[in-house]
Amino acid sequence: MTDHPLVTVINGPNLGSLGSREPELYGSVTQEGLLGMLQEHAALRGASVELFQSDVEGELVSAIGSASGNSAGLVINPAAYSHYSIAIMDAMEAFQGPGVEVHITQVLAREPFRRRLVTARSADAVLAGAGIGSYLHAMDIVLELVDTGASHRED
Ligand code: DQA
Repeated sequence: MTDHPLVTVINGPNLGSLGSREPELYGSVTQEGLLGMLQEHAALRGASVELFQSDVEGELVSAIGSASGNSAGLVINPAAYSHYSIAIMDAMEAFQGPGVEVHITQVLAREPFRRRLVTARSADAVLAGAGIGSYLHAMDIVLELVDTGASHRED
């Protein structure tokens, strides 16, 4: 395992209000709670984690760019931007290291416009519908890919 890898977790628009936003869909864990879960999970694996959230597309693009080269891997929930942001897809593509896209809800079983996942094209893996815990699973996948250097997507 790479010595103490840093995993960057990025949350897109409206995920800052996790816990109070449609809890029947997105659950009751706040973003602060999520950060605590991620930190605990990372520590058990000899890794560290940083969490960034923005509602602004350009800020998300910049955060992915800043993480590239400084962070071993990326876990990202681009939220609504997943369905149409080529800018975020490009930033994910340029990120140096593995990236896993997360959706708390099962987007393929929701409204038709959520079935189109533009950014997922640049992800090594996509997790959708496993709830808030999927961020932890995504971290495990990222760390495994960092460790093995493997990728399961076509370039
Ligand atoms: C989401 C699904 C998106 O369709 C939605 O716009 C979100 C959250 C999810 O985590 O399930 O904001 O990415």
